Amino acid sequence: MKKLVVANHKANLSMSDIGDYIFNINTNLSDKHNIVICPSYIHIPFFTSEKFELGAQDVSIYDNGSYTGEVTSEQLKSSNVKYVIVGHSERRELFDEKENIIKLKLKQCFKNDLIPILCVGETKDDKLSNRTSQVLRRTLLETLNGFSKEDLSKLVIAYEPIWSIGTGITPTIKEIEEIISFIKDIIRSAYKVDVKVLYGGSVKEENIDKLKEVGNLDGLLIGGASNNAITFSKIVDLF
Ligand code: 13P
Repeated sequence: MKKLVVANHKANLSMSDIGDYIFNINTNLSDKHNIVICPSYIHIPFFTSEKFELGAQDVSIYDNGSYTGEVTSEQLKSSNVKYVIVGHSERRELFDEKENIIKLKLKQCFKNDLIPILCVGETKDDKLSNRTSQVLRRTLLETLNGFSKEDLSKLVIAYEPIWSIGTGITPTIKEIEEIISFIKDIIRSAYKVDVKVLYGGSVKEENIDKLKEVGNLDGLLIGGASNNAITFSKIVDLF
């Protein structure tokens, strides 16, 4: 069955890289899985292809209006964006995004029919002190509480252990499998919906064989390795 593979370019690539990137994606990307590419906002209009859907890396908490520097869900929708990454750990840490802000962003996504990819994950400290399940449960319940079953059924979750992002270190197959079932169970029992859960954190060509073994994994969220279209396409083929 096709899985969902999401590229998160973060704040990478310049306008001069985009032509080659799109050419290489169009030449190399297979239809083995469903693909979403989340470029920088300014590159979004250039990413038009039948081969993938478009995602954004963030969204404003506001509707259209006098909010200098913001990009709204309505603007994303009108730019052909289908998915939005919400609550990425880099935004939580560097921009101090808390659950109340993340909730407003989810609300904006649901309002304009955008599919949120909600990122959750534990820090290294949480993991070392055996607090992973406690942290995930609290984050999920605080963030998702109050949304309708209909909205939540559209949600995608990305499990991204913070200690794995950009470090080259990944959890074991068993750890990923256990956490994914834990996340799915929490959401099923609290909200009676089944959600897709992706894994993100140092996904590379070298560890894709291992990630393929994770039985309950619905897809991947790829940072660094998605900035090269040929590498990204190869990962999609290997997955
Ligand atoms: P890396 O794949 O570079 O570790 O980043 C993961 C990530 O943060 C994707 O959102």
